[in-house]
Amino acid sequence: MSPHLPLDGKVAIVTGSGRGLGLAYAQELARRGAAVVINDVDEATAAEAVATIAAEGGRAVAVVAPVGSAETAQQLVRTAVDAFGRLDILVTNAGVLRDTVLWKMSDDDFDTVITVHLRGTFTCAREAASWMRENEVAGRIICIGSPTGQRGNFGQTNYAAAKAGIVGMVRTWALELKRAGITANAVIPVAATAMTATVPYFASAVEADAAGEPMPAFFRHDLGFGTSDDVAGLIAYLASDAAAGVSGQAIGVGGDRLQLWSHPEPVATAFHEGGWSYDDLAAGFADAAGPLQSVGEKFPPLPEALRQAQGPQSRA
Ligand SMILES: NC(=O)c1ccc[n+]([C@@H]2O[C@H](COP(=O)([O-])OP(=O)(O)OC[C@H]3O[C@@H](n4cnc5c(N)ncnc54)[C@H](O)[C@@H]3O)[C@@H](O)[C@H]2O)c1
Repeated sequence: MSPHLPLDGKVAIVTGSGRGLGLAYAQELARRGAAVVINDVDEATAAEAVATIAAEGGRAVAVVAPVGSAETAQQLVRTAVDAFGRLDILVTNAGVLRDTVLWKMSDDDFDTVITVHLRGTFTCAREAASWMRENEVAGRIICIGSPTGQRGNFGQTNYAAAKAGIVGMVRTWALELKRAGITANAVIPVAATAMTATVPYFASAVEADAAGEPMPAFFRHDLGFGTSDDVAGLIAYLASDAAAGVSGQAIGVGGDRLQLWSHPEPVATAFHEGGWSYDDLAAGFADAAGPLQSVGEKFPPLPEALRQAQGPQSRA
Protein backbone atom coordinates (compact mmCIF):
# COMPACT_ATOMS: atom_id res chain seq x y z
CA MET A 1 0.00 0.00 0.00
CA SER A 2 1.31 3.46 -0.91
CA PRO A 3 2.77 5.39 2.06
CA HIS A 4 1.15 8.57 0.69
CA LEU A 5 -2.43 7.56 1.37
CA PRO A 6 -4.00 9.93 3.95
CA LEU A 7 -5.37 7.12 6.15
CA ASP A 8 -2.41 4.79 5.79
CA GLY A 9 -1.82 2.85 9.03
CA LYS A 10 -5.20 3.84 10.48
CA VAL A 11 -7.95 1.44 11.53
CA ALA A 12 -11.68 2.16 11.22
CA ILE A 13 -14.95 0.62 12.37
CA VAL A 14 -18.03 1.37 10.26
CA THR A 15 -21.31 0.09 11.70
CA GLY A 16 -24.04 -1.06 9.31
CA SER A 17 -21.51 -1.22 6.48
CA GLY A 18 -22.75 -4.28 4.62
CA ARG A 19 -24.54 -2.12 2.06
CA GLY A 20 -25.71 1.40 1.27
CA LEU A 21 -23.92 4.42 2.67
CA GLY A 22 -21.97 2.38 5.24
CA LEU A 23 -20.43 0.21 2.53
CA ALA A 24 -19.47 3.32 0.53
CA TYR A 25 -17.82 4.79 3.66
CA ALA A 26 -15.91 1.57 4.35
CA GLN A 27 -14.74 1.31 0.74
CA GLU A 28 -13.57 4.91 0.64
CA LEU A 29 -11.76 4.63 3.99
CA ALA A 30 -10.03 1.49 2.69
CA ARG A 31 -9.11 3.16 -0.61
CA ARG A 32 -7.53 5.97 1.42
CA GLY A 33 -5.41 3.45 3.30
CA ALA A 34 -7.38 2.44 6.41
CA ALA A 35 -8.03 -1.14 7.49
CA VAL A 36 -11.75 -1.52 8.16
CA VAL A 37 -13.99 -3.49 10.49
CA ILE A 38 -17.24 -4.09 8.61
CA ASN A 39 -20.33 -4.57 10.73
CA ASP A 40 -23.84 -5.66 9.83
CA VAL A 41 -26.66 -7.88 11.02
CA ASP A 42 -26.68 -9.87 7.82
CA GLU A 43 -23.77 -12.32 7.52
CA ALA A 44 -23.80 -12.70 3.73
CA THR A 45 -23.94 -8.92 3.18
CA ALA A 46 -21.04 -8.37 5.58
CA ALA A 47 -18.95 -11.10 3.92
CA GLU A 48 -19.63 -9.58 0.52
CA ALA A 49 -18.51 -6.15 1.76
CA VAL A 50 -15.24 -7.62 3.06
CA ALA A 51 -14.69 -9.38 -0.29
CA THR A 52 -15.41 -6.16 -2.23
CA ILE A 53 -12.81 -4.25 -0.23
CA ALA A 54 -10.27 -7.06 -0.53
CA ALA A 55 -10.84 -7.16 -4.30
CA GLU A 56 -9.88 -3.47 -4.44
CA GLY A 57 -6.67 -4.22 -2.53
CA GLY A 58 -7.97 -3.06 0.88
CA ARG A 59 -8.02 -4.79 4.27
CA ALA A 60 -11.26 -5.63 6.05
CA VAL A 61 -12.80 -8.06 8.53
CA ALA A 62 -16.45 -8.45 9.51
CA VAL A 63 -18.32 -8.47 12.80
CA VAL A 64 -21.86 -9.78 12.36
CA ALA A 65 -23.80 -8.42 15.34
CA PRO A 66 -26.56 -5.87 15.97
CA VAL A 67 -25.30 -2.56 17.32
CA GLY A 68 -27.13 -1.19 20.33
CA SER A 69 -25.67 -3.27 23.15
CA ALA A 70 -22.42 -2.67 25.03
CA GLU A 71 -21.41 -6.23 24.09
CA THR A 72 -21.49 -5.49 20.35
CA ALA A 73 -19.55 -2.26 20.89
CA GLN A 74 -16.89 -4.21 22.84
CA GLN A 75 -16.76 -6.86 20.13
CA LEU A 76 -16.21 -4.21 17.45
CA VAL A 77 -13.35 -2.48 19.26
CA ARG A 78 -11.79 -5.81 20.26
CA THR A 79 -11.90 -6.99 16.66
CA ALA A 80 -10.25 -3.79 15.38
CA VAL A 81 -7.43 -4.20 17.89
CA ASP A 82 -7.04 -7.98 17.48
CA ALA A 83 -7.13 -7.89 13.67
CA PHE A 84 -5.29 -4.64 12.95
CA GLY A 85 -3.59 -3.61 16.22
CA ARG A 86 -5.37 -0.32 16.94
CA LEU A 87 -8.41 1.89 16.44
CA ASP A 88 -8.41 5.40 14.95
CA ILE A 89 -11.82 5.95 13.38
CA LEU A 90 -15.39 5.08 14.34
CA VAL A 91 -18.30 5.72 11.98
CA THR A 92 -21.69 5.02 13.58
CA ASN A 93 -23.89 4.48 10.55
CA ALA A 94 -26.12 1.44 11.25
CA GLY A 95 -29.77 2.31 10.96
CA VAL A 96 -33.35 1.16 10.54
CA LEU A 97 -36.66 2.93 9.98
CA ARG A 98 -40.06 2.22 11.59
CA ASP A 99 -42.08 5.14 10.24
CA THR A 100 -45.59 6.00 11.35
CA VAL A 101 -47.41 8.94 12.90
CA LEU A 102 -47.17 9.51 16.64
CA TRP A 103 -50.60 8.12 17.49
CA LYS A 104 -49.88 4.86 15.69
CA MET A 105 -46.28 4.40 16.80
CA SER A 106 -45.84 1.36 19.04
CA ASP A 107 -43.36 1.05 21.90
CA ASP A 108 -41.53 -1.46 19.74
CA ASP A 109 -41.31 0.97 16.78
CA PHE A 110 -39.86 3.58 19.10
CA ASP A 111 -37.46 1.30 21.00
CA THR A 112 -36.12 -0.42 17.86
CA VAL A 113 -35.10 2.83 16.19
CA ILE A 114 -33.74 4.38 19.38
CA THR A 115 -31.75 1.22 20.16
CA VAL A 116 -30.00 0.95 16.79
CA HIS A 117 -29.35 4.64 16.10
CA LEU A 118 -29.08 6.39 19.46
CA ARG A 119 -27.98 3.61 21.80
CA GLY A 120 -25.82 2.08 19.05
CA THR A 121 -24.05 5.40 18.59
CA PHE A 122 -23.66 5.90 22.34
CA THR A 123 -22.33 2.42 23.16
CA CYS A 124 -19.91 2.30 20.19
CA ALA A 125 -18.62 5.83 20.82
CA ARG A 126 -18.14 5.11 24.53
CA GLU A 127 -16.14 1.99 23.78
CA ALA A 128 -14.08 3.62 21.01
CA ALA A 129 -13.38 6.82 22.96
CA SER A 130 -12.32 4.79 26.02
CA TRP A 131 -9.84 2.80 23.94
CA MET A 132 -8.55 5.90 22.15
CA ARG A 133 -8.05 7.80 25.42
CA GLU A 134 -6.30 4.89 27.13
CA ASN A 135 -4.00 4.42 24.14
CA GLU A 136 -3.49 8.14 23.49
CA VAL A 137 -4.86 7.97 19.97
CA ALA A 138 -6.16 11.28 18.60
CA GLY A 139 -9.07 9.46 17.02
CA ARG A 140 -12.12 10.37 14.99
CA ILE A 141 -15.74 9.73 15.92
CA ILE A 142 -18.07 10.34 13.00
CA CYS A 143 -21.77 9.93 13.72
CA ILE A 144 -24.55 9.87 11.18
CA GLY A 145 -27.48 12.24 11.62
CA SER A 146 -30.30 13.09 9.22
CA PRO A 147 -32.22 16.10 7.94
CA THR A 148 -35.12 14.64 9.96
CA GLY A 149 -33.15 15.07 13.19
CA GLN A 150 -32.34 18.66 12.27
CA ARG A 151 -35.81 19.78 11.17
CA GLY A 152 -38.37 17.09 12.12
CA ASN A 153 -40.40 15.07 9.63
CA PHE A 154 -43.95 13.76 9.40
CA GLY A 155 -44.16 10.11 10.51
CA GLN A 156 -40.70 9.92 12.07
CA THR A 157 -41.03 10.53 15.83
CA ASN A 158 -38.58 7.74 16.68
CA TYR A 159 -36.07 8.60 13.96
CA ALA A 160 -36.19 12.35 14.66
CA ALA A 161 -35.56 11.68 18.34
CA ALA A 162 -32.62 9.40 17.60
CA LYS A 163 -30.98 11.62 15.00
CA ALA A 164 -31.45 14.85 16.96
CA GLY A 165 -30.06 13.02 19.99
CA ILE A 166 -27.00 11.96 18.03
CA VAL A 167 -26.15 15.58 17.15
CA GLY A 168 -26.69 16.51 20.80
CA MET A 169 -24.23 13.82 21.87
CA VAL A 170 -21.69 14.96 19.26
CA ARG A 171 -21.69 18.51 20.68
CA THR A 172 -21.08 17.08 24.12
CA TRP A 173 -18.33 14.68 23.00
CA ALA A 174 -16.52 17.47 21.13
CA LEU A 175 -16.20 19.18 24.53
CA GLU A 176 -15.36 16.07 26.53
CA LEU A 177 -12.81 14.62 24.07
CA LYS A 178 -11.06 17.84 23.05
CA ARG A 179 -8.19 17.44 25.48
CA ALA A 180 -7.47 13.94 24.13
CA GLY A 181 -7.33 15.32 20.58
CA ILE A 182 -10.30 13.16 19.56
CA THR A 183 -12.79 14.86 17.27
CA ALA A 184 -16.52 14.11 17.16
CA ASN A 185 -18.67 15.24 14.26
CA ALA A 186 -22.06 14.48 12.76
CA VAL A 187 -22.55 13.96 9.05
CA ILE A 188 -26.03 14.66 7.69
CA PRO A 189 -26.15 12.61 4.47
CA VAL A 190 -28.68 12.40 1.69
CA ALA A 191 -28.25 9.66 -0.92
CA ALA A 192 -29.98 7.06 -3.02
CA THR A 193 -30.04 3.86 -0.93
CA ALA A 194 -32.53 1.18 0.12
CA MET A 195 -33.69 3.68 2.76
CA THR A 196 -34.60 6.41 0.28
CA ALA A 197 -35.67 4.09 -2.58
CA THR A 198 -39.27 4.04 -1.33
CA VAL A 199 -39.69 7.84 -1.22
CA PRO A 200 -41.72 8.75 -4.35
CA TYR A 201 -40.16 12.22 -4.61
CA PHE A 202 -36.70 10.69 -5.14
CA ALA A 203 -37.90 7.88 -7.45
CA SER A 204 -36.45 9.12 -10.73
CA ALA A 205 -33.06 9.79 -9.12
CA VAL A 206 -32.95 6.39 -7.43
CA GLU A 207 -33.92 4.68 -10.70
CA ALA A 208 -31.21 6.54 -12.62
CA ASP A 209 -28.65 5.51 -10.01
CA ALA A 210 -29.77 1.87 -10.07
CA ALA A 211 -29.47 1.85 -13.87
CA GLY A 212 -25.92 3.21 -13.58
CA GLU A 213 -26.96 6.49 -15.20
CA PRO A 214 -26.02 9.95 -13.92
CA MET A 215 -28.63 11.52 -11.65
CA PRO A 216 -30.54 14.52 -12.95
CA ALA A 217 -28.81 17.82 -12.06
CA PHE A 218 -31.96 18.95 -10.20
CA PHE A 219 -31.37 16.22 -7.60
CA ARG A 220 -27.60 16.57 -7.36
CA HIS A 221 -27.55 20.36 -7.19
CA ASP A 222 -30.91 21.72 -5.99
CA LEU A 223 -31.71 18.92 -3.52
CA GLY A 224 -28.20 17.80 -2.61
CA PHE A 225 -29.27 14.23 -3.39
CA GLY A 226 -26.74 11.93 -5.05
CA THR A 227 -25.05 8.58 -4.62
CA SER A 228 -23.52 6.99 -1.53
CA ASP A 229 -20.09 7.66 -2.99
CA ASP A 230 -20.87 11.39 -2.94
CA VAL A 231 -21.08 11.22 0.86
CA ALA A 232 -18.02 9.03 1.37
CA GLY A 233 -15.45 11.74 0.59
CA LEU A 234 -16.53 13.78 3.62
CA ILE A 235 -16.25 10.73 5.87
CA ALA A 236 -12.66 10.12 4.70
CA TYR A 237 -11.80 13.79 5.14
CA LEU A 238 -13.17 13.95 8.69
CA ALA A 239 -11.29 10.73 9.47
CA SER A 240 -7.98 12.19 8.32
CA ASP A 241 -5.30 14.24 10.07
CA ALA A 242 -6.28 17.15 7.80
CA ALA A 243 -9.53 17.52 9.79
CA ALA A 244 -7.88 17.67 13.25
CA GLY A 245 -9.38 21.12 13.81
CA VAL A 246 -12.94 20.15 12.90
CA SER A 247 -15.01 18.97 15.87
CA GLY A 248 -18.53 19.37 17.23
CA GLN A 249 -19.91 20.10 13.77
CA ALA A 250 -22.96 18.87 11.88
CA ILE A 251 -22.07 18.76 8.20
CA GLY A 252 -24.55 18.04 5.46
CA VAL A 253 -23.50 16.41 2.22
CA GLY A 254 -25.19 14.91 -0.82
CA GLY A 255 -24.82 15.09 -4.59
CA ASP A 256 -22.87 18.23 -5.45
CA ARG A 257 -23.75 20.02 -2.20
CA LEU A 258 -21.90 20.52 1.12
CA GLN A 259 -23.55 22.36 4.03
CA LEU A 260 -22.52 23.35 7.51
CA TRP A 261 -25.56 23.23 9.80
CA SER A 262 -25.97 25.77 12.58
CA HIS A 263 -26.44 24.61 16.14
CA PRO A 264 -29.55 25.88 17.95
CA GLU A 265 -29.11 29.42 19.25
CA PRO A 266 -31.63 31.82 20.75
CA VAL A 267 -32.95 33.97 17.92
CA ALA A 268 -34.95 36.36 20.09
CA THR A 269 -34.31 37.48 23.66
CA ALA A 270 -36.61 39.67 25.73
CA PHE A 271 -36.65 40.69 29.37
CA HIS A 272 -39.47 41.42 31.79
CA GLU A 273 -38.50 42.58 35.22
CA GLY A 274 -39.71 40.14 37.88
CA GLY A 275 -40.11 37.36 35.28
CA TRP A 276 -42.73 36.38 32.71
CA SER A 277 -46.18 35.68 34.19
CA TYR A 278 -49.06 34.22 32.17
CA ASP A 279 -50.53 37.71 31.81
CA ASP A 280 -47.23 39.16 30.60
CA LEU A 281 -46.94 36.37 28.00
CA ALA A 282 -50.56 36.60 26.89
CA ALA A 283 -50.05 40.30 26.30
CA GLY A 284 -46.50 40.29 24.99
CA PHE A 285 -45.35 36.87 23.70
CA ALA A 286 -45.74 37.70 20.00
CA ASP A 287 -43.69 40.88 20.33
CA ALA A 288 -41.08 39.29 22.59
CA ALA A 289 -40.52 36.16 20.44
CA GLY A 290 -40.85 37.73 17.01
CA PRO A 291 -41.48 35.53 13.95
CA LEU A 292 -41.75 31.86 14.97
CA GLN A 293 -39.38 29.19 13.68
CA SER A 294 -40.41 26.87 10.85
CA VAL A 295 -40.27 23.07 11.15
CA GLY A 296 -39.77 20.32 8.58
CA GLU A 297 -37.89 20.47 5.32
CA LYS A 298 -39.12 22.43 2.34
CA PHE A 299 -38.82 20.67 -1.00
CA PRO A 300 -39.11 22.57 -4.28
CA PRO A 301 -41.66 21.16 -6.73
CA LEU A 302 -40.21 18.50 -9.02
CA PRO A 303 -39.61 19.69 -12.58
CA GLU A 304 -42.31 18.25 -14.85
CA ALA A 305 -39.91 15.87 -16.59
CA LEU A 306 -38.94 14.23 -13.28
CA ARG A 307 -42.43 13.99 -11.83
CA GLN A 308 -43.44 10.39 -11.13
CA ALA A 309 -45.33 10.87 -7.90
CA GLN A 310 -46.20 13.71 -5.57
CA GLY A 311 -44.21 15.06 -2.62
CA PRO A 312 -41.94 13.39 -0.07
CA GLN A 313 -43.86 11.47 2.59
CA SER A 314 -40.99 9.94 4.42
CA ARG A 315 -37.29 10.04 4.13
CA ALA A 316 -34.17 8.85 5.84
N1 LIG B 1 -30.02 7.34 2.62
C1 LIG B 1 -30.18 8.58 3.03
O1 LIG B 1 -30.50 9.50 2.26
C2 LIG B 1 -29.95 8.94 4.47
C3 LIG B 1 -30.29 10.23 4.91
C4 LIG B 1 -30.06 10.58 6.23
C5 LIG B 1 -29.50 9.65 7.08
N2 LIG B 1 -29.20 8.40 6.65
C6 LIG B 1 -28.60 7.49 7.61
O2 LIG B 1 -27.48 6.85 7.03
C7 LIG B 1 -27.31 5.55 7.60
C8 LIG B 1 -27.25 4.49 6.52
O3 LIG B 1 -28.43 4.56 5.77
P1 LIG B 1 -28.65 3.83 4.37
O4 LIG B 1 -29.52 4.73 3.58
O5 LIG B 1 -27.35 3.37 3.83
O6 LIG B 1 -29.55 2.61 4.86
P2 LIG B 1 -29.52 1.05 4.46
O7 LIG B 1 -30.79 0.50 5.00
O8 LIG B 1 -29.21 0.87 3.01
O9 LIG B 1 -28.27 0.51 5.30
C9 LIG B 1 -28.31 0.38 6.70
C10 LIG B 1 -27.46 -0.81 7.07
O10 LIG B 1 -27.49 -0.92 8.50
C11 LIG B 1 -27.66 -2.31 8.81
N3 LIG B 1 -28.22 -2.44 10.14
C12 LIG B 1 -29.50 -2.27 10.53
N4 LIG B 1 -29.62 -2.48 11.86
C13 LIG B 1 -28.38 -2.79 12.31
C14 LIG B 1 -27.85 -3.10 13.58
N5 LIG B 1 -28.60 -3.13 14.68
N6 LIG B 1 -26.52 -3.36 13.68
C15 LIG B 1 -25.72 -3.33 12.59
N7 LIG B 1 -26.18 -3.05 11.36
C16 LIG B 1 -27.49 -2.79 11.22
C17 LIG B 1 -28.56 -2.84 7.72
O11 LIG B 1 -28.49 -4.24 7.62
C18 LIG B 1 -27.99 -2.12 6.50
O12 LIG B 1 -26.94 -2.83 5.90
C19 LIG B 1 -28.47 5.39 8.60
O13 LIG B 1 -28.05 5.77 9.88
C20 LIG B 1 -29.50 6.37 8.07
O14 LIG B 1 -30.39 6.75 9.05
C21 LIG B 1 -29.42 8.02 5.36
